[in-house]
Amino acid sequence: MTPTLYRAAFMHTPFNAFQNEGALHVQQDGGLLVNGGTILASGEFSALRAAHPTARVTELRGGVLLPGFIDTHVHYPQVRIIGGLGRPLLDWLEHVTLPEEARLSDSAYARAVAQDFLHGLRCNGTTTALVFGSHFKGAMDIFFEEAAQTGLRTVAGQVVSDRLLRPELHTTPELAYAEGKALIERWHGVGRARYAVTPRFSLSASEGILEACAALMTEFPDVHFTSHINENVAEVQTVRELFPGHLDYLDTYERAGLLGRRGVLAHSVHTTDRELGQMAAHRCSAAHCPCSNSALGSGLFPLRRHLNAGVHVALGTDVGGGTGFSMLKEGLQAYFMQQLQGRDGLPLTPAHLLYLSTRAGAEALDLHDQIGDFSAGKAFDAVWLRPPAGSTLAAILNHAGSPSETLAALFANGTQADVAQVWVGGEEVYARPADPLRDES
Ligand code: GUN
Ligand code: ZN
Repeated sequence: MTPTLYRAAFMHTPFNAFQNEGALHVQQDGGLLVNGGTILASGEFSALRAAHPTARVTELRGGVLLPGFIDTHVHYPQVRIIGGLGRPLLDWLEHVTLPEEARLSDSAYARAVAQDFLHGLRCNGTTTALVFGSHFKGAMDIFFEEAAQTGLRTVAGQVVSDRLLRPELHTTPELAYAEGKALIERWHGVGRARYAVTPRFSLSASEGILEACAALMTEFPDVHFTSHINENVAEVQTVRELFPGHLDYLDTYERAGLLGRRGVLAHSVHTTDRELGQMAAHRCSAAHCPCSNSALGSGLFPLRRHLNAGVHVALGTDVGGGTGFSMLKEGLQAYFMQQLQGRDGLPLTPAHLLYLSTRAGAEALDLHDQIGDFSAGKAFDAVWLRPPAGSTLAAILNHAGSPSETLAALFANGTQADVAQVWVGGEEVYARPADPLRDES
């Protein structure tokens, strides 16, 4: 097979940007040599061209090529309720979210929602997502079928709960185990799909259902785990009352044996020092969801405390508590929320924002040997951000002085309209229509 040499201005963060000052790597006239979906060599275009004269060249000049975005917390059934503003978490769940999630018992509805959801990811340049699924097994089979059609990488799981939601969303420990096992056996490791064991949150979980989740993880040790934690003060108080014998919210997952290297806990806004210490000890990650935390008024994420405790942090959109699929917007909101915390906040640089929205997600999912940056050996998962001629962002980029300024402008001003093309494993999964306003309305 003839390799392809992509010629682009590209940026990536092959190292942890919180631990390495030089984590941002930039090639103004770069080349990525790709064969069979894998990056064989990464560097200056002219050197790669000379070394590989027979490679087919794909010109991506203009704009910037970045590693595909990695969203570590996003809800498939919630795409159509984005924008339900003005309610705190528990009120929003009861009146906006759960009625919509109940509609996914209808397979035709679930399929249409899955298609809307997956389109939202790819047209925003997200190539991998840790997806909070549906309560219905049928809707999860549909989700994995549709995800396979798009070519996106997904780590997803059926959501399980057995109390305090609404009866049609409740299951039992026995059924949760049986359906989870069937889904893992059918989908985990098939194509680009992986499975995550997903209790909704301890508020809607008995100890029995957490044990059923743990049984799945013991039987299938390489699956992932995800849930919510410490998002909202009323939620935290309710969990305390429901689990009187437990030390704190984390302890409800910890004692059930659910925490490990492939665990991702969403939000973690009101987390105590003990919990942070234990999250670090178990090497699980926090998914910071700044747009959702702002929209639902959940609070200001203590990023500095997480990092000081040794807890790995990545970013999630939390659609539909969050306000959309754009990881650029999420990065910008993360920056804002650190600014608002004064001395407790951590000033984020453009390199931090790129790291948080790409490589940090790959690390949280334990997939950083395959995706997250443009090093040789990684899959060619990429997003080409190329603002339309005449747009404000195009004007800003034309005058940006340094790569860091360019990156800052992309996060500050970039939107879905700037996503020109997206690849997963070397395959195109999205190309912007010639006239997005006319063709996608
Ligand atoms: N906690 C339990 N369920 C949810 C959900 O759907 N969204 C958010 N943001 N938090 C939750
Ligand atoms: Zn969520």
